[in-house]
Order: sequence, then structure tokens, then C-alpha cells
Amino acid sequence: MRYTAIVLAAGKGKRMNSRVSKQFLELNGKPVLYYALAAFEKSAVNDIILVTQENDIEYCRKEIVEKYGFRKISRITAGGKERYDSVWKGLQAAGQSDYILIHDGARAFIDQETIARCMQDVVKSRACVAAVPVKDTIKAADSNLLGVETPDRSRLWTIQTPQVFEQPLIYEAYRKMTLEQESGTAPMVTDDTMVAEHYMGIHSHMVMGSYYNIKVTTPEDLILGQAILDHAAPDHTVPNKK
Ligand code: CTP
Ligand code: MG
Repeated sequence: MRYTAIVLAAGKGKRMNSRVSKQFLELNGKPVLYYALAAFEKSAVNDIILVTQENDIEYCRKEIVEKYGFRKISRITAGGKERYDSVWKGLQAAGQSDYILIHDGARAFIDQETIARCMQDVVKSRACVAAVPVKDTIKAADSNLLGVETPDRSRLWTIQTPQVFEQPLIYEAYRKMTLEQESGTAPMVTDDTMVAEHYMGIHSHMVMGSYYNIKVTTPEDLILGQAILDHAAPDHTVPNKK
């Protein structure tokens, strides 16, 4: 069985409001992106496709891949305008594989157990996603900000990455979406499970993720991230600890 991870790092990180793109900000002296790559390097995946902005390809090659001696990164490829454009570029850059794991490079604290659970689950489920039960009550509000619906919390999950699929399934889903976009009718999608649902009618199985698997998005996430490195230390970060 062959597994390919696509690690997405072609975003601009607008919500972080920093001069350097958030995936290159440093935590314990290493770029945020290093941690997700190190996790997949250490995992059982066969290879990794790194998707980054065209301008950052050389930086990634020299300052991350070569500097830290990553061996599983088979391609570094340029991303696109939206996350789904970058995923499509990554899918096209991937060689023949059985399963594709799509991961946000900004989710630096992904652990080996979650990756392994997803890799195992997809063999049966065909499509699965790391997720955690929501802790808060979630409301849907109307245009006047009146809470109009309170979905049953026991059924709600916060979706993380990796999102993992049979390769032909996810490739076909994105290909269909790209065709539809060209005719200007594509729906708004925020993640890969939505693409699989909408274009292939495949529902993704929830796999238990981790509350540490946060997406570094806004400045306060750097504080949380530092705390995770200091106190929770996902396995791949242990060697970096002083
Ligand atoms: N991403 C990408 N290509 C894009 C947009 C996002 O590869 N065109 C990646 C980001 O680098 C990130 C992941 O997808 O690792 C999740 O996206 P998000 O957290 O939204 O990152 P950004 O889009 O960079 O941040 P923002 O939305 O605040 O601008
Ligand atoms: Mg974004």
C-alpha cells in the first residue's frame, strides 16, 4: 500500500498579520512548517509533496528540506490562489499512490498516532478525516444575529487535517470541481471532505484527532503553539527540546 502526503504551505497567512508568512515564523528556532513535515517524515507515509508559493520554493528546498535532511519530500510544487487550488496542484504533482493524505502545513502539532489512525481507517472507509468532538455549544445565527438553531452538540465534530482519501476518488473529485469552476458554477468549499461529498457523494469517516492539532492561524495560536511544544511535546518535537 502506498501513501502520499500533500503538505499545504502556499497560503499568505493574512489572519496572522505578520511580515513573514506564518508557515515560516519560528517556534523553538524552527519554522512552523518544519514540524508538520517532520511528523510525516517520521510516519509510515511513502512520500511527501510540499506545496508552497512559487517564490518560496528555493527557500523551502535550502532552508528546510536540505537543512534538516528530509528524505521523503519527493516534490516541491507551486500552489495556487485558494487552498483548493493548491490541493489540486498537489494532486497533479503526486505520482501513482493508493492513498492521499492532505495536511495543512500550519497544523504543526500533528502527532504520529493521529496519522497512523487515519492511514488505517482509510483502507476501510475510503475517505476519512481527523476530527475532535466540539467542546462548546454551537449556534447558527440569522442575519440579525439571533441564534436560530442549536445543533445537538453530541453529533458535532471540529474538522482537522489530515484528510485522507483513495487517490482516484479525491483526484476525480477535484478534477470535476475544476471543470465546474471553469464554467463559473463551483460551490464554496472549505475543505477536502466537502469536495469528496459534493462531487463523488462520498461521506468521510471521523477519526479521532487531537486537541493539540491546532491550525496556527492568528497571533494567539503562537502562544498556544509554544505551550504545546513546552508542555505537551508531540513526539516529533521531542528531539528539539533543550
Ligand atoms: N494554503 C495553501 N494555498 C492557499 C491557501 C492556503 O496551500 N492558496 C494552505 C496554508 O498555507 C495553510 C493551509 O492551507 O497551511 C490552511 O489554510 P489557512 O490556515 O487559511 O492559511 P492561510 O490561507 O495562509 O491563512 P489566511 O486564511 O489567514 O490568509
Ligand atoms: Mg486561508
